[in-house]
Parts: sequence; structure tokens; C-alpha cells
Amino acid sequence: MIVNQKTLKVCIIGYPVSHSLSPLLHNYWLKKYKISGEYVSSEVKPDEIEAHLLNLPTHGFIGANITIPHKRAAIKVCSEISDTARKVGAVNTLITSPGGKLIGDNTDPYGFIKNLKKANKKWNPRQTKALVLGAGGASRSVCYGLLKEGVREIYILNRNRTDAENLKTEINDSLIVKSWKDRNLLLSWATLVVNTTSLGMTGMQDLKISLENLSEKAIVYDIVYTPLNTSFLNAARQRGNLTINGLGMFLYQAAKSFSLWFGVEPDVDERAQQILLERGI
Ligand code: ATR
Repeated sequence: MIVNQKTLKVCIIGYPVSHSLSPLLHNYWLKKYKISGEYVSSEVKPDEIEAHLLNLPTHGFIGANITIPHKRAAIKVCSEISDTARKVGAVNTLITSPGGKLIGDNTDPYGFIKNLKKANKKWNPRQTKALVLGAGGASRSVCYGLLKEGVREIYILNRNRTDAENLKTEINDSLIVKSWKDRNLLLSWATLVVNTTSLGMTGMQDLKISLENLSEKAIVYDIVYTPLNTSFLNAARQRGNLTINGLGMFLYQAAKSFSLWFGVEPDVDERAQQILLERGI
């Protein structure tokens, strides 16, 4: 593609960032919707991040995705920040205002919920009892997304209980912290179980959990997408539970970010999924 002055530039910023599949996906959508734009990746060290972000408008970027380890640091440079990003405590999408200011948002909660609704069109938030495993950054997005949809009963279980208590204080006092070691027993209560820990990811240990007490009607959601089928999801599928992996969450958070920059929400079509699967997801 010939990059001229009218090309709308967006980037993903992380450290490292070479593994990111976002450029492939966004450049596919740019082509599909005939938008004159390009999406590049940019590796920035933590001690250079604030200056780098503040210079994005000067360098002609209309926006950016922010990934590990900069999602929290990005909040500091924003002139405006969405309620979602504030509550989640992290920015994954930056939008440059016409005046050159940075606006911070977070599309992860949207991606999480959209994927859930797509997998189960009859999902009813008001009748959901959600058991969320983990209390890191991903858990914040999941809890915020569930609360915003109107889920009233959410249990948080984390190995480090203090992190779960902090999440409750920062996100919503209605969250109920339970003990990590009681996870097998507490499954009997849940209609939705979400793994937000890094357990089960390639290179990590598996999530150790016995699904014996889980209702067959419960939805089992693992936000991990490398691999697509964690041992947790495989075990749930074998019992007949509806299972959801993290690929859709990744795709829909990307689609939402795309719409914030370019004004059109791209279709999460077969080809978009295929592009990621071809890269070994
Ligand atoms: P992310 O931003 O992807 O959520 P994170 O903030 O580093 O990543 O959070 C990782 C989550 O996985 C945490 O909930 C962590 O639990 P602790 O707070 O107790 O560390 C969880 N996790 C990682 N390794 C774990 C393990 N071996 N057993 C249980 N939980 C684990």
C-alpha cells in the first residue's frame, strides 16, 4: 500500500509486541471496508512509554491499541478517559482528538460480553450466577462487563485473596470474594464459570478444577485463546456444558476498537477468524 498524507495511521504499542496478531486483523478489515489506513506495531520500553504516547498525534496517528505492559501507564497520558477504562483501571484503546489530545477507552469488557451473547443468544444476565476465577487485569474487564449487563451475583475467587478484595473495592462492592480453595464446591452454585487466570495458556500449568459439582446447564467460558481448547474447556465439553473460548473476545474487542477509530464496526466473519487460526492459534 502507498502511504500518503490521507492514510489513517493506527498502531499497537507493547513490549514485546512482535507476537501480536492485531496488525493482521485490522489490516484485513481496512482492506475489506476500503479504508485508506494502515495498522502497524510499535515496541516501546516502559521508561519511554509516556513520551511516546504523547507524541502519537504529532506523528500522525489517529489512535492506538495498548497492550502488555502499558495498559495501566496509558491512563496517565489521557486528557479524557471513558468510565469503562477508569473502572477497569486500564486503557487498551487510544483515540486522538482533532485537537491532538488523547482519549482512553477499554474495549475488553465489550469483547467479553459480545462473545458470550453470540455463543448463547438466550443468555439472561438477571438469572446469572457468575463464578469468576482470577483477579488480575482480565478479571476486571470480565467483572465490569458482567455488572454492566445487569448480572447481580458474582463470586470472585483468586489464589491471592487480597487481590480479589482490592478488585471488589475498586470495581463494585456487590462482588463477593470467596476462597480459591473452595472452587470445586462453589461450582454447584454457578450458572456461568469464567477462567480469567493465565492457567491453561500455552506454557502455563493447567487450571486444576473438578467439574463434578457443576450443573450441565452452566456455561463454561475460558478467555484464554492460546490454545483454543484448554483442558478446562475440554473437560466441560465432555460433560455436555456449553463452552466458549477466548478467540471471540479477542476478535470483538478488536472490532470495537476499529469502530472507535474508523466509524464502522467490522464484521467478525469467517475470514477474520481464519487469519488468526492460520497463524497457529
Ligand atoms: P491478566 O492481565 O491477563 O489478568 P495478571 O494480571 O497477571 O494477568 O493476572 C493473572 C491471574 O492469574 C491472577 O489472578 C493470578 O492469581 P494471583 O493473583 O494469585 O497471582 C492468576 N494465576 C497465575 N498463576 C496462577 C497459579 N499458578 N495458580 C492460581 N492462579 C494463578
